[in-house]
Amino acid sequence: MIAATGVGVVQSADIMIVTQTISEARSEREKLGRLALVPTMGALHAGHLSLIDLARKHAPKVAVSIFVNPTQFGPREDFNKYPRPLEADLAKCRDAGVDLVFNPLVEQMYPPDGLADVHLDIPSLSSVLEGRIRPSHFKGVCQVVAKLFNILRPEVACFGQKDYQQYLVIRAMVEALNWPIEMASGPTVREPDGLAMGSRNQYLSAAERERGLSISRALFAARDEFAKGIRQTNRLLATAQNILLDPGSQGRVPLLIDYVAAVDAQTLKDVQVVSSPTLLAVAARVGKTRLIDNVVLIP
Ligand code: PAJ
Repeated sequence: MIAATGVGVVQSADIMIVTQTISEARSEREKLGRLALVPTMGALHAGHLSLIDLARKHAPKVAVSIFVNPTQFGPREDFNKYPRPLEADLAKCRDAGVDLVFNPLVEQMYPPDGLADVHLDIPSLSSVLEGRIRPSHFKGVCQVVAKLFNILRPEVACFGQKDYQQYLVIRAMVEALNWPIEMASGPTVREPDGLAMGSRNQYLSAAERERGLSISRALFAARDEFAKGIRQTNRLLATAQNILLDPGSQGRVPLLIDYVAAVDAQTLKDVQVVSSPTLLAVAARVGKTRLIDNVVLIP
């Protein structure tokens, strides 16, 4: 926002740069100094905005990328219908005091000659949970995030715990490739009733949303049991599963579980007894919409 002060001076600090080209993004970034980046696919909600706030705590300048990355979607997934409310997103970024928005076109990021088809993978982290259900998903995520890091060269990059596995995979990529980037993560932002905020929530009908709420309920119930002293993950997982499978008042709305898992919060290996930080993660399809959520249990 270009704000005039009382004496009519334009405050350059309030100007948000929006660019769609890589070359312009590079030259604008050059002017900014220490920068924290929040990579997004747009359809911004309070979860994204919390990461913008987190970014500002880490650096004086904040960049947001808005790019629905085709390479992380499977062939039968929702790339085409993924929401793209660009004007509303830019207004939210302006209100949040973002300095630079990078919103490239697909052809900028992936020239049609296919020569940008480079793949990075961390199989030990990316082949389980989401990676088992969406086999090339993390290759696409690593590819686009690596490109964004090289284009914008942030000192800090911010990711949400909502996509816990994504954070671990990207952190491992940054460490493995010796990128001088500090990784920051922020807690999952939820609706008042507990539903984790997500750009895909807007696909849900009222009945589907009610059914989808069982995901956070299941995770919270397992966490409550853990707080009461239960450490065997088969018991915690059974509690979560029972809640997920109980249709409640929304019996007509199908909920199909992709996974309910208890894994080590660093290695993502299965855990039988919680003795170190453990990730309880759920992915389920409610109608045509796929939802994920998780909680971390800390003994
Ligand atoms: P997107 O789904 O738009 O999410 C962008 C960032 O916001 C991710 O770090 C995600 O974990 C975080 N986020 C989403 N919902 C959140 C919530 N309810 N609370 C807190 N943080 C939340 O994740 C992606 O985009 C893409 O895979 C991307 C990393 C941009 C690569 O294309």
